Amino acid sequence: GSDEVLYRDVAVVGAGPAGLMAARALQAAGRTVAVLEARDRVGGRTWSREVDGAFLELGGQWVSPDQTVLLGLLDELGMSTYPRHREGANVYLAPDGSRHEYTGDVFPAGERTEAEMARVIAVLDGLVEEIGVERPWEHPLARELDTVTFTEWLRRQTDDEAARENIGIFMAGGMLTKPAHAFSALQAVLMAASAGSFSHLVDEDFILDRRVVGGMQAVSRAMADALEEGTVHLASPVRTIRWSEEGATVVSERVTVRAGRVIVAVPPTLYSRISFEPALPWLQQQMHQHTSMGLVIKVHAVYERPFWRDRGLSGTGFGARELCQEVYDNTNHGDERGTLVAFVSDELADDLLRRSAEERRGAVLRSLSHYLGEEALEPVVYFESDFASEEWTRGAYAASYDLGGLHRYGADQRTPVGPIGWACSDLAAEGYQHVDGALRQGRRAAEEILAGTTG
Ligand code: FDA
Repeated sequence: GSDEVLYRDVAVVGAGPAGLMAARALQAAGRTVAVLEARDRVGGRTWSREVDGAFLELGGQWVSPDQTVLLGLLDELGMSTYPRHREGANVYLAPDGSRHEYTGDVFPAGERTEAEMARVIAVLDGLVEEIGVERPWEHPLARELDTVTFTEWLRRQTDDEAARENIGIFMAGGMLTKPAHAFSALQAVLMAASAGSFSHLVDEDFILDRRVVGGMQAVSRAMADALEEGTVHLASPVRTIRWSEEGATVVSERVTVRAGRVIVAVPPTLYSRISFEPALPWLQQQMHQHTSMGLVIKVHAVYERPFWRDRGLSGTGFGARELCQEVYDNTNHGDERGTLVAFVSDELADDLLRRSAEERRGAVLRSLSHYLGEEALEPVVYFESDFASEEWTRGAYAASYDLGGLHRYGADQRTPVGPIGWACSDLAAEGYQHVDGALRQGRRAAEEILAGTTG
């Protein structure tokens, strides 16, 4: 604790997109707010940084057309976006190791596999349509779908192994960043519904549509700058929240805030890092134990030139059996140099993180060379963003329920406890696990407070 005590209407814990959006909405309505952030920067899982002279998006970066709250905020803040480079042929590395260049949105997996993929994706789109995004736990099929792993659900849909593997990868490696045997089919439906449909998720032109000029973290910086001076307190991890029906005392390393209401805007996996006095009710304590963070390493390789473009390649590549199952051209707006970004997910990330830095770099670059050729082996800058090693995140991209957790607890996950409300992308419906969802939840938590108080 510390000696300084601030008196505010609302204390917000966490200065990621969710917490800052909550503070923005509350101040706009005339409430006094303090935001306490553990790190020495704002932005949370968005982090745009220069590394060895290269500008890199270490965390969240892409914007899709359905993310209208984020797009609206970018407008309000006077920020602009630019499209991800996508001209040229994509590369598909088949399970047998063969390499295929293709254009269009379906990779050349063979006629039968392609047909099976289309059929299963249609089934998933149908479920998404029927179950919806707001309250998937209420649907009559919720329990059935939430008690079967996505691996097993796919096995029941098709005997085509490559089709299962490819669809599994989109959801497992690509989105929830857990093995497909570790989450339920209902969790997969929610993930797909949060982007409108499963077809949207697997369409990189949709889901990875645009980037923010100046980087995604600049959205949080601009929100923080627009708050009243002295609102955000950095390097102030909140350790204790003493609460009653009347209000709360929020004790951080540097400042203590007395407030009528609190918004905890950190991932649910980190709630237990805070001592709640009295303890939270059984329901919250149980529920929070049934979420966990996914794991993905985002790797960046910068080259003197985007050499793949000279060969008619887009830089986009997919390979379910590769170390890097996805690779994209991530060249910055107005940059001469070429940047590739790739992802190493869940169990592959476990293996990778156990190796030495030199071995990791070698293995990742070899995988990139399978897609784009030998030149990929010689970047001028190489960097791995590893949010699993960050104390105030502990994984990537986000938190999701274990098997059965979503239908068991989903209905209660956003319910306030006394004066304490909750906001995070990992509790979102639309924009679930994305910046857009974080903003929506921050705004929702603020509106709950504004609706509940007069004057
Ligand atoms: P977030 O985790 O961002 O912020 C929480 C804040 O709380 C952090 O600043 C943390 O330090 C702080 N905190 C935690 N405990 C605390 C305590 N006890 N006291 C005080 N402060 C505390 N999204 C997207 O839209 N497009 C994309 O391309 C990607 N890609 C992507 C890549 C990678 C590598 C990652 C890690 C994530 C993404 N995402 C993404 C996801 C996106 O970044 C994420 O959904 C949002 O940042 C979540 O915002 P929140 O504010 O909910 O949490």
